[in-house]
Amino acid sequence: MKTILGMMVVASVVSAAYAADMEAGKAKASAVCAACHGPNGVSVSDAIPNLAAQRTGYLEAQLKALKDGSRKNPVMNAIATQLSAEDIANVAAYFAAQPGAVASAKSTFLPNLAKTGVTFPEGYQSSFTKYHTVNFPATRQVRYYFGNKAAVAAAKAGKTLPDGSMLFVEVHSAKVDAENKPVMGGDGFLVADKLLFYTAMARDAGWGKEFPDMLRNSDWNYAVFTTDKQHRPGANQAECLACHKPLDKVSYLFTLKQLAEAK
Ligand code: HEC
Ligand code: HEC
Repeated sequence: MKTILGMMVVASVVSAAYAADMEAGKAKASAVCAACHGPNGVSVSDAIPNLAAQRTGYLEAQLKALKDGSRKNPVMNAIATQLSAEDIANVAAYFAAQPGAVASAKSTFLPNLAKTGVTFPEGYQSSFTKYHTVNFPATRQVRYYFGNKAAVAAAKAGKTLPDGSMLFVEVHSAKVDAENKPVMGGDGFLVADKLLFYTAMARDAGWGKEFPDMLRNSDWNYAVFTTDKQHRPGANQAECLACHKPLDKVSYLFTLKQLAEAK
């Protein structure tokens, strides 16, 4: 009993030490969190939780766990590591104070984060280098990775990828056998069946300047294309930026090593 009382005293002293700054919380929420959770904590998609009307203590605890990595999510880990203890208290207080919404309510994407400079690279099959393949047995996909000349040359020279670089990925469904298992080819890669969509990242001067620092990847922009080469509606560039953000030492690429070894 003594111990429990002692802990309660400590907890109230700690929470009293910092009075949350709602205005600062709102500013951070509008510039960064809004891209996924909406400006008022009503999120932009089914895969992203609403934060409106959630309890302050719960929001703080989750942000701390996402910051120290005990709760794992690549997108939120990348964001939470950039939040100070004060930021966490401020955004938690702000979102907790927002009115809850009906389950069907959704916020729209932030216009500055929805805008991308990436266009479909016509003729990439002949002008780009195919440098990598990855199997995704769980989702029954196989992905082929292509880099343009500027990207391959810089990677080979051990340089930061310059403006004009582009990486392009074909995402295919894998062929399945009679038991619905993905079929492995003789080369160790799943056999491609149908092209599903493309993902891309490219950079050029000034392309990142409208993104908040917490999400910005230098001047890289991202895009998803449908098989008829159109921007795929519903792709949230903020998620691409958040997950690739920690890779600033390797030109924001997960596959820089493979690109440098391209034949
Ligand atoms: C790029 C999209 C994105 C941005 C930007 C973003 N979040 Fe998240 N957030 C997510 C996703 C996705 C999840 C769900 C994580 C999971 O499944 O574990 C999440 C989960 C959370 C949770 C846990 C909610 C729960 O119900 O457990 C909190 C709290 C949170 N985010 C706060 C923030 C704050 C504060 C910011 C701004 C500083 C922010 N997020 C910015 C995508 C984002
Ligand atoms: C959850 C983390 C995550 C998110 C979100 C994410 N990526 Fe990636 N991305 C990866 C990983 C990991 C790889 C390396 C291999 C793979 O899984 O394809 C990668 C690879 C890539 C590559 C090949 C170049 C490289 O970095 O190695 C491109 C292009 C790319 N992603 C585009 C996108 C686009 C466009 C989006 C948003 C629609 C996006 N990514 C969102 C994790 C992520």
